[in-house]
Amino acid sequence: MPEQTQILLGPLVGGLSHDHVNLWARASGPATLHAWLGRKPDFSDAKLAGKSLPLNDATGCAGVVPLDNLEPETSYFYALTLNPKPPPKADGHFRTFPRPGQPRAFNFAFGSCFRPQGGNSGATFRALETHRQEDELRFILLLGDQVYADAWEYNGIAKVAANLTDYRNVYTHVWSNPYFRALLNNLPAFMTLDDHEVDDDWRWNDARRRWATIPWWDQVVRWLKGRPPEECYLPLHRVRDALQAYWEHQGMHAPAMTLPPELNYAGQYKLREQDPGSLAYSFTYGAAAFFVMDTRSMRVKGKSGKTMLGEGQWQALEDWLRAVRDDFPLKFLVTSCSALYSMWTDIPRDRWSGFPEERDRLLRFIGGNDIQGVYLLAGDLHSAHAISAECGPRRNPVRIWEFCSTPFEQDTNPLSRWMYIPILSGAVRRQKVHFVVTSNNFGVVRVEFPAQGQPQVRFELHYEDKGEWKEKTAG
Ligand SMILES: [Fe+2]
Repeated sequence: MPEQTQILLGPLVGGLSHDHVNLWARASGPATLHAWLGRKPDFSDAKLAGKSLPLNDATGCAGVVPLDNLEPETSYFYALTLNPKPPPKADGHFRTFPRPGQPRAFNFAFGSCFRPQGGNSGATFRALETHRQEDELRFILLLGDQVYADAWEYNGIAKVAANLTDYRNVYTHVWSNPYFRALLNNLPAFMTLDDHEVDDDWRWNDARRRWATIPWWDQVVRWLKGRPPEECYLPLHRVRDALQAYWEHQGMHAPAMTLPPELNYAGQYKLREQDPGSLAYSFTYGAAAFFVMDTRSMRVKGKSGKTMLGEGQWQALEDWLRAVRDDFPLKFLVTSCSALYSMWTDIPRDRWSGFPEERDRLLRFIGGNDIQGVYLLAGDLHSAHAISAECGPRRNPVRIWEFCSTPFEQDTNPLSRWMYIPILSGAVRRQKVHFVVTSNNFGVVRVEFPAQGQPQVRFELHYEDKGEWKEKTAG
């Protein structure tokens, strides 16, 4: 290993459970990660707990050290080094989760859409760091647009990412933000991708997944702005490169995918039509179960078909909902794009409202199977909201909520509150918008299990208003 090789991104804490963690980092060159674990804050008891596979160019020198046999509900201090020398201090700490099914009060954060610009970027993560400590946040869900690979004015490479090196360089630029990095040293993260990890509002043109596309207006804007022709279309190899960069930065430290997509000999996703695999995964925190959907890699919209999740992921989701129905009183369905917030001016039709049959399938499945305690967590819209609604039979209704937090830092949509329309298909009733916020924000969810009665779930939306942080609540 050359002397100057160092940790470029991370370390961050992924895939945390009651007994397992994936410690992730990306190095500036070939190396091996060494993970150190201790129980004392001064790290005097730290021991070498594991090593990564050799990091090399196959993964952009990103890697994980998976560690098993941890104690539940226990605080650990950790460090990652690139050599076998014991480090003098910890990089951060984490607390393992309760065993699955154990009712425990806890708080977590979520949000989406980070497009930093200039030296003052990261204010939301700085504010989140304060809450992490005060509210004992157990983890954060990053719901997509963790990078804007196509935002050439902001992404650090001055072009639309067109190959694997470009996509990796965008992550290097965005994730080097010191506040983002510092927060994730100590706040375990679960991530899923939205569109901009690949390109704006992209989708497959047909079920064979051989050719993808971006909206025509993006193509026109890029052409008018004199962007080179290769930035105006989206061939298969570019999607593969983007999804590989996603895997290297967001996927490899996540809990194991429920049914992972097949890989080819180069270690990239095959993306065959018949492959039911997706990037969806699930995890638990005590008596709360989380299913993190992949709303992007299976998405097809064209003459030969139209789907958001794909049938393979649908089976996984429905199996999961049946499995957790009685054993976990709280179910959080994590979806990068909003399901309950429809907009009458939604031209891209890029959210669940563009796939109304599938949206209604989800709502009817929840209502028809009497699945109580469901909370949707969403991002994407560049405005935040809380919505409650009812589905299922009128005599025995199921109440559901959608909490949406977006963006961490991006242009917001000041008109979104005027664009809302309720869902009129009949799949839900008594829809109520509790608030809409159109400035940079993050969400905090507080979960409590009183000795008597139903679990309590409260959504706090923290938002920036003329340099001050304010808060709205629902739930
Ligand atoms: Fe976004």
